[in-house]
Amino acid sequence: MHTHQDPHFSRAPLPGHLNGSDWTQQMADIHDRTGYWNSYYSNDPLIRQQPPSQFAAFVAAECAGFPLIVDVGCGNGRDTLFFAQLGHQTLGIDKSSAAIDQSAQKVLDRANAQDHAFLCMNALSLPDASDLVERLSSKKKVIYSRFFLHAITQEEQTAFLDFSFACMQADDMLALEFRTREDASREKVTGSHYRRYIDAEALADQLVQDYPGALEYFTTGTGLAKFRSDDAHVARILVRKV
Ligand SMILES: C[S@@+](CC[C@H](N)C(=O)[O-])C[C@H]1O[C@@H](n2cnc3c(N)ncnc32)[C@H](O)[C@@H]1O
Repeated sequence: MHTHQDPHFSRAPLPGHLNGSDWTQQMADIHDRTGYWNSYYSNDPLIRQQPPSQFAAFVAAECAGFPLIVDVGCGNGRDTLFFAQLGHQTLGIDKSSAAIDQSAQKVLDRANAQDHAFLCMNALSLPDASDLVERLSSKKKVIYSRFFLHAITQEEQTAFLDFSFACMQADDMLALEFRTREDASREKVTGSHYRRYIDAEALADQLVQDYPGALEYFTTGTGLAKFRSDDAHVARILVRKV
C-alpha cells in the first residue's frame, strides 16, 4: 500500500515564529483537531460509502485534460476515488491517519495502484517537502481541495497556498470549495469542529495579487454543496497559474 506517515509530524519541527506557550497551545490545538478527524473517520462506517461531492463532478468536467489530481484534505477519499475512476492519477493528502487509511483502502482496492498514492501529512509541512514539490512540478495537474480551507488555520492555509503555487506549472489549476463568512450562522449536520469562515472575495483577490494566479471561475452561494439540512453557503474558485 502506497501510504506514508508524515515524517515531520511526530517530531514536530518548530516553526521559527512560534515559541513558549503560544507554541504549546497551538500544538495542543493541532492534536485536538487531528483527534477529531481520526475519530470522525474511524467511527462512522456510513462515510465509507459516500458518493462524490457536487464539486468533484464540477471539477471533473472543467479539468478533464489534466492527468493528475492532488486532493489536499482528501478525507475518506470519496472524491479521490471518483477522479481515479475517471482515469486520473491521484495523490491524496490528509493529516488524519484514519482518513488516509480509508482513502488508500478505497482507491487502491478499486483502481490501478501504481497510479495512486496517499500521504499522511499536515498542511503546515507541505512547503518544506521539497522532494514532493519537485516531483509534482513536472506533472500537468489540478490541486483540488474541497471543504479543507475552512477546516484549517490561516497559517495552514498560507502553507497550503505556498505549496500549491510552488508545485504548479503554468496553466495548472487550483480548485477550491469552502464555507464562506455567510455560512457562519447556517445549520450544520456534521459535528462541531474547527471551522474558519472565509471572506471569499478577499481570498480571490489574494490569489491574483499575492500569487501568480488568474481567476478562471468564481462563484458563491447555496445549493452547491447541500447535504441533508446543511445547505452550506460556499465559494468555488478555479485559479490558473500564470
Ligand atoms: C471537512 S473534511 C473534508 C474532506 C473531503 N475533502 C470532503 O470534501 O469530504 C476536512 C479534512 O481536512 C483534514 N485536515 C484538517 N486540518 C488539516 C491539516 N492541517 N493538514 C492536512 N489535513 C487537514 C481533516 O483530517 C479532514 O479530513
